[in-house]
Amino acid sequence: MSHKTSAQIRQEFFDFFAEKDHAIVDSAPVVPKNDPTLLFTNAGMNQFKAIFLGEEEVLKHEGKTWNRAADTQKCIRVSGKHNDLEEVGHDTYHHTLFEMLGNWSFGDYFKKEAIAWAWELLVDEWGLEPDRLYATVFGGDEEDGLPVDDEAIELWKSETSIDHDHILKCGKKDNFWEMGETGPCGPCSEVHIDLRSDEERKNKPGRDLVNMDDPRVMEIWNLVFIQFNRKPDASLEKLPAQHVDTGMGFERICAVLQGKTSNYDTDVFTPIINEIADMAGLKYGNDEEKDIAMRVIADHIRAVTFSIADGASPGNDGRGYVIRRILRRAIRYGWDVLDFKEPFFYKLVDVLAEQFKDVFPEILAQKEYIVNVIRSEEKSFLKTLGQGIELFNEMVEGKDKLSGGDAFKLHDTYGFPIDLTELMAREQGVEVDVEGFNKHMKEQKERARAAGKFSVDQSDSKSWNVVEETDEFEFVGYDDAEAEVNIIAYRKEGDRFAIQLNKTPFYAESGGQVADTGLITNGDEYLKVLDVQKSNGQFIHYVDKLPEDLSGSWKASIDLDRRIEIQKHHSATHLVHAALRGILGDHVAQKGSLVDENHLRFDFSHFEAMTDEQLDEVEQLVNEKIQENIPLQEERNVPIEEAKDRGAMMLFGEKYGETVRVITFDENYSVELCGGTHVGATGEIGYFRFTQETSVAAGIRRIEAVCGTRADSLLRDEKRLLKQVKGAIGQSQDLAADVMKLIEEKKSLEKELEQMQLQNTGAKLDELIQNAGSLDSDIKLVKGEIAGADMDVLKQLGYDGLQKTKKNTAIVLGSKDDEEGKVYLMVALSEDLIKEKGLKAGAIVGQLGRLVGGGGGGQPNLATAGGRQPEKLGEALEKVNEIITDSIS
Ligand code: ALA
Repeated sequence: MSHKTSAQIRQEFFDFFAEKDHAIVDSAPVVPKNDPTLLFTNAGMNQFKAIFLGEEEVLKHEGKTWNRAADTQKCIRVSGKHNDLEEVGHDTYHHTLFEMLGNWSFGDYFKKEAIAWAWELLVDEWGLEPDRLYATVFGGDEEDGLPVDDEAIELWKSETSIDHDHILKCGKKDNFWEMGETGPCGPCSEVHIDLRSDEERKNKPGRDLVNMDDPRVMEIWNLVFIQFNRKPDASLEKLPAQHVDTGMGFERICAVLQGKTSNYDTDVFTPIINEIADMAGLKYGNDEEKDIAMRVIADHIRAVTFSIADGASPGNDGRGYVIRRILRRAIRYGWDVLDFKEPFFYKLVDVLAEQFKDVFPEILAQKEYIVNVIRSEEKSFLKTLGQGIELFNEMVEGKDKLSGGDAFKLHDTYGFPIDLTELMAREQGVEVDVEGFNKHMKEQKERARAAGKFSVDQSDSKSWNVVEETDEFEFVGYDDAEAEVNIIAYRKEGDRFAIQLNKTPFYAESGGQVADTGLITNGDEYLKVLDVQKSNGQFIHYVDKLPEDLSGSWKASIDLDRRIEIQKHHSATHLVHAALRGILGDHVAQKGSLVDENHLRFDFSHFEAMTDEQLDEVEQLVNEKIQENIPLQEERNVPIEEAKDRGAMMLFGEKYGETVRVITFDENYSVELCGGTHVGATGEIGYFRFTQETSVAAGIRRIEAVCGTRADSLLRDEKRLLKQVKGAIGQSQDLAADVMKLIEEKKSLEKELEQMQLQNTGAKLDELIQNAGSLDSDIKLVKGEIAGADMDVLKQLGYDGLQKTKKNTAIVLGSKDDEEGKVYLMVALSEDLIKEKGLKAGAIVGQLGRLVGGGGGGQPNLATAGGRQPEKLGEALEKVNEIITDSIS
């Protein structure tokens, strides 16, 4: 076997296809930005979906057009249609994140070349033994009305030296590949390899093990012949052209070529496995349970790191939740099996940053940020684990069985795997209802599956009513606020109407900037444009109604006043982005942005709250840049490489085209790639003012700000407010100091008042003691109403009263608040009454409480009650004598 490194294998794949006229392109981000049907990039072809569907023209790359491409694509398969999570770590060849080597033909070559080249690379170049290889082909499907792929069978026979017995027909499940519930699809042909010993192969033919989940007989390359689009109603639509889409598992082919039986033994994984083993003080390969944990961690750190690098972060829903679950699965295995009780996972980012610095430099570039996000997530999860253990102890206390529901709760909320729960239960001699647990798990999976089916816009399946056949479309909104346009298509979507124009001045929502609104008019007829969205490269204008006659020329005009305010906020976003980097540091990277006519919101990576001083500094810098009145420099169609060289700010995890639009406000201050609309010079922004600084997620801060007209009205509101305050306070040299003084004075007056009230109530208590009556039993009874006292005061008076009277005394005090509809009662007894007469304050006050529509209780010597019928207080105090007398035992 060869001793190629994984980096060499990757490069040889690229070289092989470059030689065959393929553009070698970059991997798309693993977090797709513009496809609502996908949570994560799950196949190399995702980034070419629009080309396959015929919505986009050929691929542009390095200034040329291409109908062939190849790359290595970062893929994650943990949700939706392709989901391998459960297997990961337990076996040696499934991963949450893996690289998929792929080659593509966009309406160019088809089955023949795809098959011949796959064979050439595997057998002629890489030297795999032909008699270990199997090819599966599509065996047809009645439901979809598709025949056996005889053509592929014949091509395997004519174009390769494969043993004809090694060509196997398989069903739709294995040999009809689909991207998701909808989208490009077609029959496929897979190459499988049998890695067993010669003896084993003699005893049982490899063909019996293909597609049987045997780790030694596994799929390595899938060749898909894309011909259809699966529609939301499950029907197949034939595509305008035939394409090739292939995918080879990079980690698997590395194992094969490096002579390993496990992907984790290749140099793709050994650096990370070694690091984990070192941290645990163990050796990998000695103990299956510990090995599984190490594999889980080695696998999961890749998925978590790559998705954070591409712009996602752990959270509570959607993508964020998936990342959180993967991360927690890893931490839990570390905690439980490898005894990692402190955060450890984040330390592995270093290894990946180094390992992938050439092919995926985005990790090294954002290492500090990724480390911070993972560490803070780890810390909070370790706390949760601790709470989970406490809860577990409560759940099993005094029981001999833990219910399935409880076990599921531990799993779902606290991340406890069932085997951990079982282990802990065993230690306490408790059984676990595993069956019940499995039932809950199944239900959850079904819920997740339902949630994984993203809402594919059903309206996409509805066709447009064409008014005018044309392929032309132009966005003129960078230069014009108005245009003469034709309506070329329309349809109804829910309660709205959608129209397409041959050109438009309306900006469609994108890049955080909201859509323009405005009017489309023709004579007396006018349509209000409420929203504009991009869909498959089209601008869809949502209007309030449809005219009877859509033909002819229309005038489209945007609400220019609103657009101008939006532009101010957008340009200000660029200025503040640059200012944040200048003042906080280069680690500041944009994580989200929203711009409308009233405010701007900007999320960015930074690890702590900004101080007031920092906010001031940034605000000041932005306003200086506004006053410099820097003219806008807008360049369209700049080659991406040139933009990079000029240091234009780009977003990680964003896929840019061959040429980009560059927005510059002073080439030494702010250069950004941006498709939005902007002011002509920064002076137009007027004024910039922060309104908020908050946290959005671990390591991500959010600032909000206003400018233009909004900043002006905010400042005038503040002025008005200040004037009102000044007016109320009167003459003042230092308003803040005077307000503080007022607050202090108020506090000290309140204290004085409290003391005076206490003195008053004290005096009242003394008076009641003076006038205490005696019951028949000789007990002294101090009772009465204390106006204005709350429960705390009554209690205090009770204690004071006992001090003053010492023996043979019962004190019963009440007060009421008629406005609130409340009444308070307190009973205090001297010790001798409790011991000698068997009286209990709690019991007495309980009876009194019921008389005033409430209840109460407390200690034998002092207890309180509250009620809702203040009007009954007098009656209750009347009855006290009788109640006490009756209570004597
Ligand atoms: N798109 C194909 C797959 O993912 C190649 O298997």
